[in-house]
Amino acid sequence: MTEPRAPKRLFIETYGCQMNVYDSERMRDVLAPLGYAVAEKPDDADLVILNTCHIREKATEKVYSEIGRLRAHKERRAAEGKGMTITIAGCVAQAEGEEIMRRAPAVDFVVGPQAYHKLPELIARAARQAGERLETDFTAQEKFDVLPARAPDGVTAFLSVQEGCDKFCTFCVVPYTRGAEFSRPFADVLAEARSLADKGVREITLLGQNVNAYHGGASFAALLNELAAIDGIARIRYMTSHPIEMTDELIGLHGAEPKLMPYLHLPIQSGSDRILKAMNRKHDGAFYRDIVTRVRAARPDLALSTDIIVGFPGETEKEFEATMQLVGDVTFAAAFSFKYSARPGTPAAGMAGQVSEDEKSDRLRRLQAVLFAQQTAFNAGQVGRTLPVLVTGDGRRPGQKHGRSPYLQSVHFHDAQAQDGDIVDVRITGSSQNSLTGEVQALAPA
Ligand code: 5AD
Ligand code: SF4
Repeated sequence: MTEPRAPKRLFIETYGCQMNVYDSERMRDVLAPLGYAVAEKPDDADLVILNTCHIREKATEKVYSEIGRLRAHKERRAAEGKGMTITIAGCVAQAEGEEIMRRAPAVDFVVGPQAYHKLPELIARAARQAGERLETDFTAQEKFDVLPARAPDGVTAFLSVQEGCDKFCTFCVVPYTRGAEFSRPFADVLAEARSLADKGVREITLLGQNVNAYHGGASFAALLNELAAIDGIARIRYMTSHPIEMTDELIGLHGAEPKLMPYLHLPIQSGSDRILKAMNRKHDGAFYRDIVTRVRAARPDLALSTDIIVGFPGETEKEFEATMQLVGDVTFAAAFSFKYSARPGTPAAGMAGQVSEDEKSDRLRRLQAVLFAQQTAFNAGQVGRTLPVLVTGDGRRPGQKHGRSPYLQSVHFHDAQAQDGDIVDVRITGSSQNSLTGEVQALAPA
């Protein structure tokens, strides 16, 4: 009789955006049939995948320091007679694959974001120590065609509908790492959504680098409409949007479709028209303000979130103040703000007037003070209201649950009966910068 073999263990470390979170889930799905179980720590894993992000320099640097740490684990495991395969996936893999292979011999292979359906083949090749170790072709649709069925592990799920970008903002690496804009066919997206609903998913977040530029055989608004008709799906969200793709149809849907949650992530990047032009954002501040006015007219309680970059090349103090002005006028429920980071190969990296690190840090500090105050105020504004909260899991204490408000806030409350996937009415009694607390009123009909 042969001894049962210990299951192989997989550890995936995910950096960056929601698209990478989605991709990591899909890599787990691809590897499950090969017998990979999830490891708690990288040192226990037979296969470690770093799903990397290239958007800012800091994110890229993390990859090389993490490879250094993994190399030590790999050597220790080798001394114990165990192997460890190290894989670099994601956008750094796409952009710097050859350099990674040269600089980091501990890495067994590199797989780009459009090629992770080939993981089983790459693992087999690595075991034989034969063949190409760099797989970074752009085959966007092929990937989706061969991926196995989803195995969601909760009541919320991401669903990738669009990838890549043709907008070429001058600061951004995405058009180079994720390739040209590509939309998945309408029918494929609906089939994946239905299968998620059948597996208990109640809330779907559609993902894309320019999700509202979706054109997979129907408009993005038409896709949202069809998804809203799926019975089990109670809530729909989407991100990230580009302002120039906010059609009247889509704006109208925010007022007309109750399953579309009152939350919109709409990056502005800068409040200065000159900087917006230098960024090649294709719109000005007035255009953005007009969209916000119209979406808020359609859905007055909308929580608006944004992305902002400070210290873009040539940004003067006055231009930074235009950003502060816009933030003060528009007011955001949440925001992601960043110091400009020069990315190799992008037009802005070679522009004159690069802003000093000190100046960037100072501007970011001033901006974030306002943004955090706005977020705290938005959360405090919910106190006293009763919100429908989607139960997403157990809290730390017995009987404690956590869930999600329509505005994407985390909500903590006590309810021994509530099950994951229920939508319960919670009266909000407390708030902080990052979450809400409350008391259950009654179970709403599912
Ligand atoms: N430097 C700083 N922030 C960047 N972003 C994209 N590229 C850069 C860069 N080079 C930010 C933008 C974008 C978000 C995902 O990351 O704000 O919307
Ligand atoms: Fe990058 Fe601009 Fe495309 Fe967004 S729209 S992914 S910021 S190039």
